[in-house]
Amino acid sequence: MTDLSVDLGFGTLKNPVIAASGTFGYGLEFTPFIDLNRLGGFVVKGLYFSPRPGNPPPRLVETASGLINAIGLQGIGVHQFSEEVLPRLREYDTAIIINVCGNHDEEYASVVEYLDRQEGITAYELNISCPNVEKGGQCPALNPKSTFSIVKLVKETSARPIITKLSPNVSDITEIAMSAQEAGSDAISLVNTFLALAVDVETRRPKLSNILGGLSGPAIKPLALRMVYQTASRVSIPVIGLGGIMSSTDALEYLICGARAIEVGTANFIDPQVTVNIVDGLREYCEQNKIARIDSIIGTLDTQMR
Ligand SMILES: Cc1cc2nc3c(=O)[nH]c(=O)nc-3n(C[C@H](O)[C@H](O)[C@H](O)COP(=O)(O)O)c2cc1C
Repeated sequence: MTDLSVDLGFGTLKNPVIAASGTFGYGLEFTPFIDLNRLGGFVVKGLYFSPRPGNPPPRLVETASGLINAIGLQGIGVHQFSEEVLPRLREYDTAIIINVCGNHDEEYASVVEYLDRQEGITAYELNISCPNVEKGGQCPALNPKSTFSIVKLVKETSARPIITKLSPNVSDITEIAMSAQEAGSDAISLVNTFLALAVDVETRRPKLSNILGGLSGPAIKPLALRMVYQTASRVSIPVIGLGGIMSSTDALEYLICGARAIEVGTANFIDPQVTVNIVDGLREYCEQNKIARIDSIIGTLDTQMR
């Protein structure tokens, strides 16, 4: 029997497959398609303290092997989430991770402070990296100092583990990862979307109302994988890898490059069962290769010259 569990330091997941924020609703939307109990965990849509309408449409555009979105973090806010959604999520035996957003550092802290009073949450993923929030949104993950100060504040406020989600829109993501680690982050997830633009040549207008959006999907996988490899080689806290994962083979690449778990985003829009198919694929790979514990392949990329 293969052991698919992975240790994230602050807790163990039954397998390394987590559904990514913003692509999996609040989890409940996927219950007609999959058994949530089969996942290592899932991250709910980004939550601000209050409800938000997000950006006006059009907010999504398909591109070669990818998707550009500028949803603008539409969400129901912490009260409605705690009263209407969380009680139903507690029925599931899987890690429930809340993606935390804010217009300023104190708002992140107040979201966490409020949610700390609610039962049934495994960890917080700090979304300090959203590229497509209009004015008023913030992206501390572009700078080591602002990353440090927000992670420190939230860590001091929170009774639960913190996963800091990083932006790929920087020249050296390992610097930002080190800041998050020094500020006390329990783990790091990377990457969020790549800042992108799509143009309609007939109208000569941007295809998204927000002008810019964030690119996700298979188009970003090699870039994200490189960043995960570099970051996992530098930090000592666990790294969760994501970006363009469509299959168990993609997931394995991330694990081999040092990710202790992976998140699946855009692929959920193509196949709502993709996460459980990836769990099955990981098990098959382990069985075929006589690997008793999946965590034994983490960080085993062989870079020796031959
Ligand atoms: C429509 C959409 C909405 C998203 N919303 C969020 C969000 O609320 N919070 C967040 O941290 N990331 C959000 N993301 C980013 C994803 O969680 C993920 O980091 C990114 O899409 C890369 O992974 P993928 O290539 O597997 O989709 C969103 C992505 C998409 C496509």
